[in-house]
Amino acid sequence: MADMPSSSKPPIARESPWWLAPNVTLVVFSLFVLYSIWEIFGHNVGRYQNYLSPYFSPDVGLWLGVPWIPALLVAWIPLGFRASCYYYRREYYRGFFREPAACGIPDRSRQYRGETRPPLVWNNLHRYFLYLALVVVIFLWKDAVDAFWYQGHLDLRLGSFILLADAILLSLYTFSCHAFRHLVGGGLDCFSCQNRARYRYRGWKAISALNQRHGLYAWASMFMVWGTDLYVRLLIIGAIHDPRLF
Ligand code: FES
Repeated sequence: MADMPSSSKPPIARESPWWLAPNVTLVVFSLFVLYSIWEIFGHNVGRYQNYLSPYFSPDVGLWLGVPWIPALLVAWIPLGFRASCYYYRREYYRGFFREPAACGIPDRSRQYRGETRPPLVWNNLHRYFLYLALVVVIFLWKDAVDAFWYQGHLDLRLGSFILLADAILLSLYTFSCHAFRHLVGGGLDCFSCQNRARYRYRGWKAISALNQRHGLYAWASMFMVWGTDLYVRLLIIGAIHDPRLF
């Protein structure tokens, strides 16, 4: 019989490269956060012709009649929504805090107290961020439609399709949210007792199907926001050309 390890911590039995996913998460999320800080605090304009960066949507500056507006004024909603997302929590608890790094891997610290005190307790605001994010999604679709319309004409350029893809992926991410699933079908004792409950059940089933891919939408939409903003930023500074597709 093999000797038992002398450490008080349980042995790591997994042979798979469990460290890979949390470390990839750590690197990619760190880059995304750094990019977001650079974009939000380093720029006041996110519009190029009929394109609006998702970091600057909705265009509050346009409503107020001022040429520029701090991105932070609107970006805190999607960033708060993402930071408190159940899927992202799992990922950054693993990647950044190692609490634990993966299934079957001991916690790095014995001090973990869950989401019982600031700042982690603020993650419980997720459902309120969802309500705000639902409003932002409406504006993202407006931005996507505007991206196809320039100076009174239909204008099909690469950027138009990038903004459309951004609105689609962010919608999939938002509507597959666990809190949205609960909003639609939660809090009911009986799905078949009333007509209204039956409709809610159908909606809940549809959202449950989307919800199974929530992690995929979380990653895809994050890269899309990142890429869309970068595309608009490069156009603003004149570093790239926006090709007309048709
Ligand atoms: S659980 Fe991920 S956005 Fe709500």
